[in-house]
Amino acid sequence: MTQRSTFPKITTHVLQEMKLNGEKIAMLTAYDYTMAGLLDESGIDVILVGDSASNVMAGHKTTLPITLDEMIYHASSVMRAVTRALVVVDLPFGTYQGDSLEALHSAIRIMKESGANAVKIEGGKEIVQSIRRILSAGIPVLGHLGLTPQSINKFGTYVVRATEEREAVKLIEDAQLLEDAGCFGIVLEKIPAELGAKVTDGLKIPTIGIGAGNGTDGQVLVSHDMLGLTQKFSPRFLRRYNNLSEGIKGSVQSYIDDVKSVDFPNEDEQY
Ligand code: KIV
Repeated sequence: MTQRSTFPKITTHVLQEMKLNGEKIAMLTAYDYTMAGLLDESGIDVILVGDSASNVMAGHKTTLPITLDEMIYHASSVMRAVTRALVVVDLPFGTYQGDSLEALHSAIRIMKESGANAVKIEGGKEIVQSIRRILSAGIPVLGHLGLTPQSINKFGTYVVRATEEREAVKLIEDAQLLEDAGCFGIVLEKIPAELGAKVTDGLKIPTIGIGAGNGTDGQVLVSHDMLGLTQKFSPRFLRRYNNLSEGIKGSVQSYIDDVKSVDFPNEDEQY
């Protein structure tokens, strides 16, 4: 079995060290106290309070509707549980794109009100001013390139990105720009494995892939997907490590049966 990381506390500097040592970074999402505690106790390196909460927790079709207040609520819940992992929080759609000062205020609210360790922002050249401004306040930033779900209305589909030369070249340039601006890492979502490895090899900072092949410095998945709590979402890159939805439904059905048949509570379960 692969040795899990022995770092007592994960910081952005530790992630850099992990890249240098060739140790892969394991990242998962969490949006609440209980799940975050389980991930942290299991030894996860990075917890992402992703705006995928918009889909997974709130049932929206896209990540666009989730608000800054809602992200801060999720991030605060996660922070109460975590002692070791680095916690990164997504800046939600509409809170950083138009104006770098607004981006700075949004990031400061997340850091101040939740106590998180870093923020994540989708995009390259178009939003680099916002990234620079946030970094200038001492807030670590994780970039996010490739498939950027907040731009779904521009692209219209969630298909693999940067399969064409022009888009691949822009992604490589954007990745370098984000590194030069001072991002501590970059999430690469749903791009060809070869490109994921090429971007990773060209950067000093770590990359964390989701559907970007095994040449990146780490991997991230949505916990609810990899645990099988969600059932409909089945992209090729998703490995399911459990089938918790079936387990939960089976348990609930047993509970219903026990209540209806007056098997629950029994003598030992009452006062
Ligand atoms: O919001 C999220 O969960 C994400 C990951 C899919 C990288 O951005």
